Amino acid sequence: MNSDYIKRDTDVESILVSQEELSDIVSRIAAEVSSDYEDKNLLLLCILKGSIVFMGDLMKKLTIPCEIDCMKVSSYGKGTESGGRINILLDLHRSDLSEKDILIVEDIIDSGKTLSYLVNYLKINGARSVKAVALLDKPSRREVEYTPDYVGREIPDEFVIGYGLDYAEQYRSLPYVGILKRSVYEK
Ligand code: PRP
Repeated sequence: MNSDYIKRDTDVESILVSQEELSDIVSRIAAEVSSDYEDKNLLLLCILKGSIVFMGDLMKKLTIPCEIDCMKVSSYGKGTESGGRINILLDLHRSDLSEKDILIVEDIIDSGKTLSYLVNYLKINGARSVKAVALLDKPSRREVEYTPDYVGREIPDEFVIGYGLDYAEQYRSLPYVGILKRSVYEK
């Protein structure tokens, strides 16, 4: 193991969701989605970048056909606090949305602004149906009323990293979800 990897691990206060638990969560959600979308035309929509790892694992465990696509939006300003404004940085450019049942794939829901905005945006743009899955849910941080259709696990209001989630673009490749040491971002 190289020293950079060891350094990244030492920035983790504790493991919040282990690799084994993540695998169980993704299997459960994949089974639910496979059943619910059996007779539909599923388009999995990965919201970059944090959802990449979850999306990859989820799609491999589905037992039904699907298409995939990506959007990128920004909601967080800098560091650990949610910014609040939603900007579309990479849009969907498709002419077949009226035939698609979209499942938005998110790594985390915090204020709820990103998901509530995206669901509305995709409906306005003509998608046949729009639902969302959030791997992690911080209900205590909600600022708008929105509940994802599928949730992996509720978590407390801690700064979490790994399994796609970052701090300053680092730690996304950690295979588990960990709590970042305060000393890393309170410098
Ligand atoms: C995170 C996360 C969601 C959003 C949730 O993305 O992936 O998209 O914030 O926050 P909200 O519920 O308060 O709207 P981020 O902007 O950090 O981008 P990233 O996925 O590229 O890291």
